[in-house]
Amino acid sequence: MPHHPRHRWLRWPSEPDRPRLAFGADYNPEQWPREVWRDDVRAMKTAGVNIVSLAIFSWARIQPREGVWDFAWLDEVMDLLHGNEIAVDLATATASPPPWLTAAHPEILPVDREGHTRWPGARQHWRPTSPVFRAHALALVTALAERYGEHPALAAWHINNELGCHNAYDYSDDAARAFQEWLRRRYGTVDELNRAWATTFWSQRYSDWEQILPPRLSAPSSYPNPTQQLDFKRFSSDALRDYLRAEREVLRAATPDVPVTTNFLVMGDTGPVDYAAWAGELDFVANDHYVIPGPQARDELSFSANLVGNIAGGLPWYLMEHSTSAVNWQPVNKAKAPGELARDSLTHVAHGADAVCFFQWRQSAGGAEKYHSAMVPHAGEDSAVFRAVTELGTTLRELAPVAGTPREPARAAILFDWDSWWASEQDSHPSDRLRYRREALDWYSAFLELGIRADVVPASGAWERYELVVAPILYVVPRPLADRLDAYVGAGGHLVTTYFSGIVDEHEHVWLGGYPGALRDLLGIRIEEFGPLLDDETAELDDGSTGALWTDRIDIVDPATEVLVRYKTGEQAGRPAVTRRAPGPGSAAYVSTRLGPAGLTPLLATLASRAGVTSELPAALRGHVELAVRGPHRFLFNRTDRPLDVSALAGPGRVLAPRAVMVLLHGGTP
Ligand code: GAL
Repeated sequence: MPHHPRHRWLRWPSEPDRPRLAFGADYNPEQWPREVWRDDVRAMKTAGVNIVSLAIFSWARIQPREGVWDFAWLDEVMDLLHGNEIAVDLATATASPPPWLTAAHPEILPVDREGHTRWPGARQHWRPTSPVFRAHALALVTALAERYGEHPALAAWHINNELGCHNAYDYSDDAARAFQEWLRRRYGTVDELNRAWATTFWSQRYSDWEQILPPRLSAPSSYPNPTQQLDFKRFSSDALRDYLRAEREVLRAATPDVPVTTNFLVMGDTGPVDYAAWAGELDFVANDHYVIPGPQARDELSFSANLVGNIAGGLPWYLMEHSTSAVNWQPVNKAKAPGELARDSLTHVAHGADAVCFFQWRQSAGGAEKYHSAMVPHAGEDSAVFRAVTELGTTLRELAPVAGTPREPARAAILFDWDSWWASEQDSHPSDRLRYRREALDWYSAFLELGIRADVVPASGAWERYELVVAPILYVVPRPLADRLDAYVGAGGHLVTTYFSGIVDEHEHVWLGGYPGALRDLLGIRIEEFGPLLDDETAELDDGSTGALWTDRIDIVDPATEVLVRYKTGEQAGRPAVTRRAPGPGSAAYVSTRLGPAGLTPLLATLASRAGVTSELPAALRGHVELAVRGPHRFLFNRTDRPLDVSALAGPGRVLAPRAVMVLLHGGTP
């Protein structure tokens, strides 16, 4: 079970009980002369900003040399913000070590899998397991906690920044030592590790912990031990969490009343941290999200927000960063279209965010991110972006009653599992084309197309409450998870799973006797060989859809298993493509190929209707409107690029413009 945060929300400096949504940005005053600071707070008030994240990258400014501290500028900024009723989410400033530290201690620099040092010059160049880095960083955290713990502007502590964003995988000697320790705790004896890692293969047997290394680059065209690779991913996520705990303990000891958070990065393909396992470490969950252009960009935004909402246990969370317009790190960086800034922000609110913040307040004039948008762009306040920002500030003030209301759980869910993500995409598999998150997102798009709300929930969470559970590419199924799935279907739940699910246990050892070993009986099928497809191959199905990437040679082994769809072409022609076993009131369905959102939508319609799960939207709006529910509030998003008549939901004559959002109280009152 995931550990939900105990949930202590922001400590507002004034009127702590007044419901409000937080609104603001990363504020980097050190990039600007002092004269600009006053102008900043004036414009913040114009925009309705009530909180900023401060000092994220300020280490070199706060501690210009070892033993030398300069807090004067930060004192002034803290006081200035407080004087203007702007609260502060104060960073511990440890994200990017200053040059004096890396020059004196190059042993804190991370090392890549080829043994190359990651040099300073950008940011986050530190080893999560370095005792030297940790000693210096914790001294800084202590100094900040002592100096600002009592400051009236302080609303929360912000640990580091996007832990693992640039340094998640470190193959250094420090990492090797910490990995050995982690393995010792996990396995107890070297023999047990040898068994788990199947080291009889290729003569890899260890006789001492100290022989074990991170999976550094080995012989060309060869593959490091897969369980070693998987354990290294688990270890790396845990090592960062360990670091998070170290900072948090300093803060909790010094300032027990101040809530502590750190910004997650649940977005796109960013996968090195198992955030479901981190949520319980914090007082509230925070996330950063950037929209990545593409046909499912908007669905991905909603998917990520939804997952964060469920990682946060349905309780309010903090959107720490997103962008007002273009970013700087895509190959081509497009500006947002009018309406997108508000729509993207409100998507997060609809899925549980009680804070809407941006990177960053004022667009930098120099440095690597000068072409990244901000609340105040290069053009200044007389700009469309700043007007949209100010308008959003007004909207968020009007939405104050939403604050504190919980997400309303859906009836259907998509399981999300970091272990299966990490393991299913490892090398030397039947296909290296498989993408875990893409398959999960395709199912989410299919739900949106049908107008059925679905939650994206961690596999470690309490998903038994859902009537329909889709578990895409649930590759790693340890015995207890197999038992849970059995019990779920036995109790009347409806499970849908896909190709490459139920294949291995927690050590990435195959469940024998035919695939998908852990789920074979539950699904009533048996697969002797996988049938991955080449890039230019597809397989036609007899429901008119087309499969890509994967097929399976399925045998039906239980009379209760029904074939819903068959292959029409290719190696599996005539064989089952989609099956469903319903031994009682519950069912377990299997989809053996990649259908993409268009192919999944009609199939999911059948599976959902057999499960008795229906859309809450009027038929005419399904697929066109995304619905999200928080307490008594219903959020409607226009998923199309044309105006939509939403009078069936919102009353006569109501139209939802492209990219527009409408918030209704139950019963339809806007
Ligand atoms: C985030 C980071 C910010 C800024 C932003 C740009 O990953 O935390 O400091 O770099 O990306 O999109």
